[in-house]
Amino acid sequence: MIAINQAESCVEIIRERGLRGEIEAAVVLGTGLGSLADALEDPLVIPYADLPGFPVGSISGHAGRLVIGTQEGTRVAYLQGRSHYYESGDPATMFTPLDTLHKLGVQIVVLTNSSGSCRADIAPGSLALITDHINFNGQNPLLGSGGDHGFVSMVDAYDPRLLRRFKHAASLTGTALHEAVYMWFSGPSFETAAEIRMARTLGADLVGMSTVPEVIIARRLGLRVGALSMVTNYATGVKGGHPTHGETKDMALKGSISLKRLVRTFLRTKEDVWSATTRPQS
Ligand code: HPA
Repeated sequence: MIAINQAESCVEIIRERGLRGEIEAAVVLGTGLGSLADALEDPLVIPYADLPGFPVGSISGHAGRLVIGTQEGTRVAYLQGRSHYYESGDPATMFTPLDTLHKLGVQIVVLTNSSGSCRADIAPGSLALITDHINFNGQNPLLGSGGDHGFVSMVDAYDPRLLRRFKHAASLTGTALHEAVYMWFSGPSFETAAEIRMARTLGADLVGMSTVPEVIIARRLGLRVGALSMVTNYATGVKGGHPTHGETKDMALKGSISLKRLVRTFLRTKEDVWSATTRPQS
């Protein structure tokens, strides 16, 4: 449920702190992936604590900063850390940050996360492109948003052009990139082995505790969404999987190098430059 949206105030603060010009894309960084925001040119760094409605979470591995700058010739905003449904029970917890990006003119948002794999052939350390999701949690960030605004289409929720752009970036960098359906569990407890068998039966490849409500919010705002997952572990019971928060954080940190390379290449490959040659036949 969307509480008070403070995006207008956030936009004002960000502009007062010196933001100039357009931002082409935003990237939301999941647990252990914060270092992707390193090495931006001319960074403007604003702690979430200075932005009303941004999360000031307690989850380790999350810096809680908005970092805006230039990377690979692209103006980009990184959200270094997110809040999760399980921290507050509020599925709309990321509404203000995403709406702030929207109001700053951002059109593309790339969501990153860490996940557990339901598939023996998607091993820990792999990267996956999320192609679709299952909202198994059942919560929805647009509940109570009133009027007709909540009836947001989830057709092509993961933007087909961005999917192609990521696949292209993966081929340029020689990165193995799985394609996966992601199932949202509320957390914070991990899943049981029976739940993971169910997830697999229902068509999930990966499970995790984030991203899905952000996709719904982003689509509501008209943002184009891409999502990448760092597979940190086998989900409970898959090849003996026995996930812990420590393991997921450590593995995300290790895998962040390949994720970083992929995101940087993605930012470098502008759509109009490559799409004419790589657009699939339809
Ligand atoms: N389950 C849920 N969330 C996760 C997992 C998992 O196994 N790994 C990383 N995030």
